[in-house]
Amino acid sequence: MHAFAKAVVLAAGLALAASSAHAVDPFFPTFGNNGIDVRNYDLDLDVAMPSSRLTAKATLDIRALEDITTFRLDLTGLTVSEVLIDGVPAVFNQRNESKLTIRPRVAIPKGKSFKAVISYAGAPKPIQDPTVPDDPSYQLGWFTYDGATYALSEPVGASTFYPSNDEPTDKATFNRIAITVPAGYTAVANGLLKSTTPLGAKTRFVWSMDEPMTTWLATVHINRFDVKVTATTTGKPLRFYSTAATPAADVASYAKSRSMIAYFETLVGPYPFDSYGSVVVDDPALYYALETQGMSTFPLGAADEGIVAHELAHQWFGNSVSVAAWADLWLAEGFATYFEVLWPNRRSPAAFDAAMRRMYDYAVDAQLGPAVVDRPEDIFSDRTYVRGALALYALQLKVGTETFFRIARTWQETYRGRNANSRQFILTAVDVSGDRTVSTLLSDWLFKAPVPPLPGGQPSAARRLGPAPKPDLVGLRCGRGSHRGAPAVCAGAAAN
Ligand code: TRP
Ligand code: ZN
Repeated sequence: MHAFAKAVVLAAGLALAASSAHAVDPFFPTFGNNGIDVRNYDLDLDVAMPSSRLTAKATLDIRALEDITTFRLDLTGLTVSEVLIDGVPAVFNQRNESKLTIRPRVAIPKGKSFKAVISYAGAPKPIQDPTVPDDPSYQLGWFTYDGATYALSEPVGASTFYPSNDEPTDKATFNRIAITVPAGYTAVANGLLKSTTPLGAKTRFVWSMDEPMTTWLATVHINRFDVKVTATTTGKPLRFYSTAATPAADVASYAKSRSMIAYFETLVGPYPFDSYGSVVVDDPALYYALETQGMSTFPLGAADEGIVAHELAHQWFGNSVSVAAWADLWLAEGFATYFEVLWPNRRSPAAFDAAMRRMYDYAVDAQLGPAVVDRPEDIFSDRTYVRGALALYALQLKVGTETFFRIARTWQETYRGRNANSRQFILTAVDVSGDRTVSTLLSDWLFKAPVPPLPGGQPSAARRLGPAPKPDLVGLRCGRGSHRGAPAVCAGAAAN
């Protein structure tokens, strides 16, 4: 097994970080801190509306991974008034505009756990999206529009509303996200709604995410929402938040999550969180849905069942099992795209096969490069989504449907609540299938430039009818060549 594992790594042709390493991501080196491990975030946010000015207290349970005299958290555009380390005031500064540097009164030895309580305030603003560094219209984090607020942070926007260790391998629970808003507003966040408390002219909503979550998946939505409450077939709460502008058909589509969860559970194992739901954003500038953990976010005009299935699939693939590095995002987007196509075709294997072969034709025509990408600008590209989904379909054709889903379930069981990388996926696939040649197949799909043939070699029926049109997928809306559309164009163009 060892010699073989080594061969896989060599075949991969890349030095991949071990998933257990807690590491600042090479794509976004200015975010995160390798010296600390945040265990839990407790966020207490008071938000004035409609300004969305924030007065907040964040309590972080942290373990020192090295001897600490000073340490840094990511925090941008907000002013800190006090930092307590285990109850003792600490010296701090914000000289670097995107960092909070803290010097505890006494040094903290490696291995010790401590509590940091950070009081801060300000008017949160989004920051530049570093995956589109040259276009200031792409921003991340906390947005305010039309008297409402939402926070969407993939990949590095968390620092716009809470002090965080903003790198993808430092997952933490968020045992409490408390949001106090003026009466009449509803505040939505990740996970379970624990309480709603009227406080005179304000209302306090307390949410809780008890399973580990990456920093970028934390979300806050404040608006005048309607809510539809149901439960999964296993009794977990489902909450679907909409606004007066949300078409009834869209709400019905979000509510399909209930049967989707039941269906996905038969394929890949139990839904990994205590609750699920969705929330809509009316802001016409938002052009993508996001799999915010336990409470997916949908923009206007993106409620078709494929998209709903895509964000739901992420709860298993990407959220519970998170990528160890952004380069490996196909492990999230490839699976989500696969299930986006599977859901509407679930009753017809032939229709599913035809849809995947249309996608294959597109990948060949577009000469899509390997699913694992080498730079931040490509993380939301077709390589991640389309070639990632096709790598999975190639695996399914090679090992058979039953073994394929056994691999997916084992992947979930093995890495639940943690991070994992491409090499570990290959090892899981080889291990479960007992077929060593699976390693070559996946390495070709994930790391090598030419689009490999699909196992079985059957050509697509559509193949000879000219260039393949773009398949109809989440990331391919608004006529974009990558998964990124010009927001202004998308505003009018809606889905597909
Ligand atoms: N990860 C999201 C999804 O697939 C989509 C997403 C987030 C996205 N940021 C993006 C798509 C930027 C395109 C561009 O559901
Ligand atoms: Zn996705």
